[in-house]
Amino acid sequence: MTRQILVTHALPYANGPLHLGHMVGYVQTDIWVRFQRMCGHEVRFVAGEDAHGTPIMLAAEKAGVSPESFIAEIKVGHENDFREFSVAHDCYHSTHSPENQRYAELIWSRLKARDVIAARTIQQLYDPVRDMFLPDRYIKGECPNCGSADQYGDNCEVCGKAYSPTDLKNPRSVVSGATPVMRDSEHYFFELAKFQGFLETWLSQGGESEVAQPSVVAKLKEWFAAGLKDWDVSRDAPYFGFAIPGTTGKFFYVWLDAPIGYMASFARLCEEKGLDFGHWWNAGSTTELHHFIGKDIVNFHGLFWPAMLQGSDHRTPTKLHVNGYLTVNGAKMSKSRGTFIKARSYLKHLESDYLRYYFAAKLGSGVDDLDLDLADFKARIDSDIVGKYVNMASRVAGFINSRFGGLLADQLHDDALFRDFADEADHLRDLYEHGDYAAAVREIMLMADDANAEIQRLAPWTMAKDPSRERELHRVCTSFVNAFRQITIYLKPVLPKLAEAAEDFLGVLPLQWGDAAEPLLSHAINAYKPLALRVEQKAIDAMLAEEAPPAAAAEAEKPKAAKPAKAAPAAVANENKGDGKSDARSDGYLSIDDFAKVELRIARIETADHVEGADKLLRLTLDLGDLGKRQVFAGIKSAYAPENLVGRLTVCVANLAPRKMKFGMSEGMVLAASAEGGAPFLLSPDAGAQPGMRIK
Ligand code: MSP
Ligand code: ZN
Repeated sequence: MTRQILVTHALPYANGPLHLGHMVGYVQTDIWVRFQRMCGHEVRFVAGEDAHGTPIMLAAEKAGVSPESFIAEIKVGHENDFREFSVAHDCYHSTHSPENQRYAELIWSRLKARDVIAARTIQQLYDPVRDMFLPDRYIKGECPNCGSADQYGDNCEVCGKAYSPTDLKNPRSVVSGATPVMRDSEHYFFELAKFQGFLETWLSQGGESEVAQPSVVAKLKEWFAAGLKDWDVSRDAPYFGFAIPGTTGKFFYVWLDAPIGYMASFARLCEEKGLDFGHWWNAGSTTELHHFIGKDIVNFHGLFWPAMLQGSDHRTPTKLHVNGYLTVNGAKMSKSRGTFIKARSYLKHLESDYLRYYFAAKLGSGVDDLDLDLADFKARIDSDIVGKYVNMASRVAGFINSRFGGLLADQLHDDALFRDFADEADHLRDLYEHGDYAAAVREIMLMADDANAEIQRLAPWTMAKDPSRERELHRVCTSFVNAFRQITIYLKPVLPKLAEAAEDFLGVLPLQWGDAAEPLLSHAINAYKPLALRVEQKAIDAMLAEEAPPAAAAEAEKPKAAKPAKAAPAAVANENKGDGKSDARSDGYLSIDDFAKVELRIARIETADHVEGADKLLRLTLDLGDLGKRQVFAGIKSAYAPENLVGRLTVCVANLAPRKMKFGMSEGMVLAASAEGGAPFLLSPDAGAQPGMRIK
């Protein structure tokens, strides 16, 4: 029976780039979606930005832009990361959208009508300078328990004690530095306890209809047993969010409208695709609703959200799929250790499918944390993907192409092996369905081991020397092309890019789960091109170099070095003086014509070398396409190893007057960003840009 399945993953906050921790859950979700689709089910996969709240409001303010343009920019970055990791939503929207406002207001009005919203006056610390109430995290002071300085308003990181912000000694506002004062404010509360009966039933479903992994259900029941408290769902202005209808200066708390964002994205998809929203979301819907989330947000999805849905006459979630936390090299990701790896830093240097594979190989059906051990990562990819999976095809494809005109035989050499592999389909389907990707990957690799051992035993390369064994050789190679095809099917949810390349090689339409049951015979395949390469240690090093902790880099990089980014406007200023007829403006702005004088172009770094006698400079040769080659000296030695720069694209000022330096002529300038005195960050264009292209 075709299932109708709506899948979501946790909406990332629109306040910073995605990191590899985020990618655990996002990759896990995408694998499940691809798997279900291969099985022929109707799957709708939606997500979006979680765009509201105080941190985002303050971050936008700090960046000097409106929250709207702040979140829009972050969204573009997130979408690029998702696309390149092959996390393919049907709709990727935002909680700051008209659809979300509509559903937030609808749910709110229904909850009020149900009499499950209470209003109460509470006391909260207030920043009299910034004129805002302060969330606990925005108050710091001395711990009331151990006296440690500089502790947050909710708990002490030194002694571990939890307290309320009013207990802090010498409290101050993180926003303005002012001493906070106590103020009254009316807040709205969602009376969760009124849903006790419903939640009890919902949480106690068993077997296939269990709402989450057993350990998650147990955790939820603990909270439940501790007593359900009212949930504060309003915040005072200034706040970036939706105003609560019928109030002044009150806004929905970010976590109220965040999960409603799932609906908003789906509503948007309905508009695009002409789907029936009610069919999927009304109470009693026969469709399935699956939420993939990290372990830190279980209470929101396992208590508040189902209660909100129930209380507003909507369907409730079918299942929560909860993932553990990512550690890197055995420890919590840390900026100061340089292990807080951004998705973008990974993508710049390594294959997206490889990380998907590594995560899949480590994701069991539980909620255990998982470790990205970079040595193990390389070893596993090299051994499993290159050594086992892809190797199978490369060992036999050549014979099919050179001896048999690319045509597979009309019969397999080994039907038993084919049937064995076909028979795995049901078991593997079960493992994917229940999120035990690690077990699935393990079994698939055992199959690859079997196939490779058989190839070794049959030694087609020996058969190839004996003309009388021509037919046998043809069938043997056909058998292993088929084994490769079956394994491709089973790995396809995990390795979408590699599977697509394999489909090209096999000359077949997109493979479906059921295809594993039928062999591919008398079929023309294409020439074999290497499908996957080993992981280069230098690519891993280059990725880590991207995250080099700022403090250490700043130490190495003494102030005043390498601030080429700032020099660009200076170049303009010089020109203005020179040509006299410039329309120099007096309002502090640059005219577009002035800006056009700076000739920015894409450059490929061809060579990069240390410069004898210079402790900050690297000598670069840049390829500017039709404009030829340039030698440029760049003050970026503190942050980049020359060998990691070779081949990469960056941005260069192509019409800067050449300058004679002690070490030779510098014929341009590469652009880099840097904080005052901090290490430089070279600019990179998006994929597709070519050397010599003009930037404007
Ligand atoms: N915006 C909320 C979710 C709202 S859902 C209606 C949020 N955002 S988040 O950006 O902090 O996290 C997004 C997801 O990434 C969450 O599922 C979170 O658990 C997950 N992770 C964040 N850091 C992680 C790791 N280090 N490891 C694994 N998952 C991590 O929470
Ligand atoms: Zn303390």
